[in-house]
Amino acid sequence: MKDPLKIGLAGLGTVGVGVVKILQHHSDLISKRAGRPIQIIAISARDQGKDRGVDLSGYEWVKNFSTMSNHNGLDLVVEMIGGAEGAVKDFVYSSIKNNKHVVTANKALLAHHGADLAQLASDNAVSVGYEAAIAGGIPIVKTLREGLAANNITGVFGILNGTCNYILTEMRETGRDFEDVLKEAQDKGYAEADPTFDVDGIDAAHKLTLLTALGFGVKPDFGALSITGIRDVSADDIKFAADMGYKIKLLGIAKRSGDKILQRMEPCLVKKTSAIGNVEGVFNAVCVKGDFVNEVLNVGPGAGEGPTASAIVADIIDIARGNVPPMFGVDAKTLQHASWADANDIQSACYLHLEVKDQSGVIADITSVLKNHNVSINKFIQPGFNDNGTESIVMITHKGQYKDILAGMIALEKLDSILTKPKHLRVEEI
Ligand SMILES: NC(=O)c1ccc[n+]([C@@H]2O[C@H](COP(=O)([O-])OP(=O)(O)OC[C@H]3O[C@@H](n4cnc5c(N)ncnc54)[C@H](OP(=O)(O)O)[C@@H]3O)[C@@H](O)[C@H]2O)c1
Repeated sequence: MKDPLKIGLAGLGTVGVGVVKILQHHSDLISKRAGRPIQIIAISARDQGKDRGVDLSGYEWVKNFSTMSNHNGLDLVVEMIGGAEGAVKDFVYSSIKNNKHVVTANKALLAHHGADLAQLASDNAVSVGYEAAIAGGIPIVKTLREGLAANNITGVFGILNGTCNYILTEMRETGRDFEDVLKEAQDKGYAEADPTFDVDGIDAAHKLTLLTALGFGVKPDFGALSITGIRDVSADDIKFAADMGYKIKLLGIAKRSGDKILQRMEPCLVKKTSAIGNVEGVFNAVCVKGDFVNEVLNVGPGAGEGPTASAIVADIIDIARGNVPPMFGVDAKTLQHASWADANDIQSACYLHLEVKDQSGVIADITSVLKNHNVSINKFIQPGFNDNGTESIVMITHKGQYKDILAGMIALEKLDSILTKPKHLRVEEI
């Protein structure tokens, strides 16, 4: 058997401890699969005295994780601390410059600095493994970069944040409001005390940035992404969508649109009966469309100790085998800035939710405004009166220019009979 691959672990929280457990429990199996033993040499976290529920006595404790980047005894460092800037970023950069392979679960770092890191890794002939950074246990990097390498990828869609999917599922199943379900998710440990990254779509957008880069061979460009989270989705929206045969999901979408790429993160309606509509709770799903394979759907746990550590160790095994593919599937030098499609120019069907005064002529006024903006109605329901005496009107439009629908929404808001800002969500046919 070949020499062991010697690794250092920076971060011993949820993910780091999971990695230690897998490497300890499956050391023989992993040696066989990798063709060489994988040895943890050094570890680092903030608090050396913390009981982490695993035996760490055989490893060298490194006080400052940054120094692992020039530790002579290490071939590979695993970064499991998090954060896009500062000491963690410097650590990853200097580890690569010192010819160490890096494995990381840090989607924020890669979404902001992925193109730079891909070039640096290529220049130093090392690998940056990041399977754990996108959809946890789902092997989507391998699927896109290797399994579907023969295809021209036309679209990548996904439910990329388990917390949001759990909240939307619970809201639908129990009829409760967003705030109420969020609080429960925080109590159960599915949502962070500060839920901003999750519920505002930022965490999922980091992952989508990387999926777009992988799928289309372009530079990751987080700044180019339009992001809407789930805070404004109400229990009523979820119920009305269900009444019309849909579920609401926070979707990351990247697809070819002519010679451009359309990339967006937003809550959308999907058919109740669709495969992605049936991905519930904390599960993630990523659907890839390729010209020869047609459609591949990967579903699985998107976070948590076991699934995330499983993806990290898979990357370590790959590197131990000597498998060092380019980070985003193409030579880093050929990664280009994408030409982004304007989401307002696309054809889209939309869900519209209006709160109106209970007075005659309201529906005629609404349909007249929509007609003037080339918006035609496919489905229409009047669910009845709200507690405050107002009435809801809910529609699904036919596919039309999205900018026409937006203009129609602005005109509707000016009607005297419309009481609140009209709401709209796109309907995705996937
Ligand atoms: N948790 C998941 O399900 C999941 C899924 C996918 C990706 N990720 C990503 O994986 C990474 C780690 O997540 P996690 O959930 O394991 O986080 P975590 O439980 O908060 O653990 C973070 C670890 O980093 C250590 N740390 C923090 N600041 C440090 C510093 N200044 N110096 C040294 N060590 C420091 C902490 O040390 P102490 O333990 O001593 O405090 C802790 O061991 C993040 O990038 C996250 O986005 C996590």
